[in-house]
Amino acid sequence: MKKILFATSNEGKMREVRMILQGIPAEVFSLKEAGIQVDVEENGETFEENAILKVKALRPYWDGLILADDSGLEVDWLGKAPGVCSARYMGHETSYDIKNQAILDQLQGVEGEDRSARFVCVIAALLPDGEILSARGTIEGVIAHHPAGSGGFGYDPIVLIPSLGKTTAELSPSEKNEISHRGKALRQIRKLLLERGYYEDIDCQ
Ligand code: IMP
Repeated sequence: MKKILFATSNEGKMREVRMILQGIPAEVFSLKEAGIQVDVEENGETFEENAILKVKALRPYWDGLILADDSGLEVDWLGKAPGVCSARYMGHETSYDIKNQAILDQLQGVEGEDRSARFVCVIAALLPDGEILSARGTIEGVIAHHPAGSGGFGYDPIVLIPSLGKTTAELSPSEKNEISHRGKALRQIRKLLLERGYYEDIDCQ
């Protein structure tokens, strides 16, 4: 069976990735499961650049297909911050309770459409023959007035999806994967891999 490396150590992300990639006739490994310890400096200016940096940096450690994502939250009122710096925002060690509250504080007095925000995810795939594919997914929302929900990870408790009346932390894992930035980007990559003939019997959703 083929082996895919998904370049993350974030367990919340990995849980989502596994669900979305279900049906692919391949085993998916996180960095930890693959025993790879590499710190890739994400110094690109875009999600695309960072995702591609990650897959390229891992080539010496993995022969098969490598997938990596770069994702984050764009808050329009904050000039699309934290954006590509979402994980590093206020420091890696700062808890998301504190990061989320800081964003809510900065949006105090801001109402309606001015609270618009989105999650963005770009997935890059480095095929064994050196070809690089990438796909982008987004989910539009607004910054809630209060954190809500305990599912997901990171900024999920403050991103409200108006059509559902729920934050992404209030969705079940499968509800989130169906509409999320990561779900959309990964399903697109699955489709591209199928078109490339990387898998013959890929179960494309
Ligand atoms: P990355 O690991 O460099 O892609 O950093 C992504 C960061 O963006 C995460 O650590 C979270 O802070 C944020 N993020 C990305 N996707 C999500 C999501 O689905 N929910 C909540 N936060 C997210």
